[in-house]
Formats: sequence, C-alpha cells, structure tokens
Amino acid sequence: MKKRLLSGIKPTGNIHIGNYFGAMRQFLDLQNQYDCYIFLADYHALNQVQNAEELRRQSDEIIKALLAIGLDPEKITLFRQSDVPEVTELCWIFNCITSMAALKLAHAYKDAVAKKLPVNMGLFDYPVLMAADILLYGANVVPVGQDQKQHVEIAADMARRFNHLFGETFKIPQVMIRQEVGVVTGLDGRKMSKSYNNTIGLFDNAESVRKKVMSIVTDSRGLHDPKDPEKCHIFALHKLFSMDLLEDLTTRYKKGDISYKESKEILAKNIVEFLQPIWTKKAELDKNPHYVREMLENGAKKARVEAQKTLKKVKQKIGL
Ligand code: TYM
Repeated sequence: MKKRLLSGIKPTGNIHIGNYFGAMRQFLDLQNQYDCYIFLADYHALNQVQNAEELRRQSDEIIKALLAIGLDPEKITLFRQSDVPEVTELCWIFNCITSMAALKLAHAYKDAVAKKLPVNMGLFDYPVLMAADILLYGANVVPVGQDQKQHVEIAADMARRFNHLFGETFKIPQVMIRQEVGVVTGLDGRKMSKSYNNTIGLFDNAESVRKKVMSIVTDSRGLHDPKDPEKCHIFALHKLFSMDLLEDLTTRYKKGDISYKESKEILAKNIVEFLQPIWTKKAELDKNPHYVREMLENGAKKARVEAQKTLKKVKQKIGL
C-alpha cells in the first residue's frame, strides 16, 4: 500500500514559481511513489477573494497549472475542496475542540493583527479548516513550502488531541519541505508571495517575465566589481533555472566578470525556456474545458468516498 500524500493550493492570485518549486514540483516528483490527493483550496480562498468571477478565473488557472506541469490525473486524485463539503463538517467538529488561545498564535492571524488588517472568522479559523483537509483524507505526508509548516503542525496537534479525547482515529501527518526551495525569493528578495506583488507567474508571457527579471533588486556594483552570488537575488533564481551554469556564473560573479544586467538576461532566457512547455500545455487545456471538467468530477467522486468514510467514523466516535 502506498502512503498518502496530500496538499492544496489556494486560488487567491496568480500562481507563481514559488508555488511551483516550493510545492508543485514535489507533487510531480512524488506522484508515482505516493497515493496523491491534490486539491484546489477554494473554501480557503473565500476569506480573501470575494468576487465570483475572479475566484472562478483563478481556480481555473490553478487546476490547469497542476495539469500543465505534468500531474497525471490517472495517477493522482485531483479535486476542488468545495466539491467535498464534508470538509466543512469536520472543520466544525474540530472547532469545538480547539481553543481560541491556540489559534491566536497562528502566523497568518498574528501578521494580520500586527498590520492592523481586518480579520474575518475565515482567516482566524483557517488552520482548523486546513487540519480538516489533511485529516479527512488520512494524509501521511504534506509537501508544502516553509510558510505552511505551522499549519501542518497544527493539523498534527489536532489529530493527537482528537485521538486523546475520543480514541485512536487519525494518523499523525508529517510536513515535507525541501529545504533548498522552502522559501523561494521574489523580485525584491523577500519571500515570493501573491500578497507582496513580487512574483514571476507560471503563466506570465515572455515579455512580462523579461520585464520582471530586469526589475530584480540589486546593489549598485558595476560590471567589474566582484559580487557575492549568495547575496544576489538574481543568483537565487539562477539556482532554480540555470543549474548547468552555476559554476561558471559563480566564478564570473566573484571575478567581477559579469554585470547584473547580463546575469538578468541569462536568467530571463532560462525562465522562458523552462516555462514554454507549460504554456503550450496550458493552451491545449484552454481548448478542452470538457476534459478539465470531467477530470474534476472524477477526482471529487473519489475524494468524497474517502471523506465520507472518515466522517462516518468520526461521528461514531463523538456520539453523533
Ligand atoms: P498557497 O496557495 O499560499 O501556496 C501553495 C503552496 O506553495 C508554497 N509556496 C511557496 N514555497 C516556497 N517559496 C515560496 N515563495 C512560496 N510561496 C508559496 C506554499 O507553502 C504552499 O505549499 N494554506 C495553503 C493551501 C492549503 C493546504 C491545505 C496545503 C489549504 N489546505 C492542506 C496543504 C495541505 C496555502 O495557502 O497555500
């Protein structure tokens, strides 16, 4: 029996290369080894996206991105979170055994409070819904970027707490992070994030990729000044897109034999080359909405059977 892998992506903005290297690439590399459940976290997006057309557009884009990078729906279960409403039922049950004090320690909530942003109940309860996602399908491993680590730990705590209160029910999920891509940096050197507006989108076109790469923030060292690759935001992305050139680039950086402009030009070319096949596959999917719809219906059917099994067990344990 293969172990189960589960992860989700939220349709709250254009999907970017941080999502790809931090999470999606792991789904791709592991789809033969694990029984994979990958979903569009559209319920999670609702606390941010309150525009139906926008939500539909972004959801469609993420599903197509998952297919365009090469995930095979014959091997994995790919579905929309909202097609399995049992997850909200489990979330409610978990709400009733979760202290508000614990949720007040969650990063996303603390960040929003620190920035004096309005906090809706969806944001506050976000980690509980995520615990429901993970435990509903009995995930063994959850591949994510570093920013989701705390959420997976909360899910593991939830499983322990439920098991302690009601008897052995849930497996304890493990977070899976690839250290070298746990935090992919953006154009300004901060974590690449939809909310910082510093991303390179998976579906940006060649011109936009080039423009964005040329805008990567650097220091003011000139062509002949030696440069430290480890402190350069361009180089951080070369590590993902210019693997064959890393040695040569490192030497040239240290010798003062390359300008930031040239380094950016090489990077832009490599990113475009990398993304081209993904764009081609996406264009094919755009022409075939029937295929995407049918694939999602099949994924939801399969996921729902699992979800209902778990929920039945849970209800028995808690006395419903
Ligand atoms: P989301 O949609 O913000 O991001 C999707 C995945 O991409 C990773 N990621 C990154 N990794 C490395 N560097 C970056 N700059 C970067 N930016 C994003 C995220 O860590 C994530 O793995 N709450 C989740 C969605 C979710 C989920 C789940 C995930 C809902 N339920 C259950 C796993 C299991 C989220 O908002 O991801």
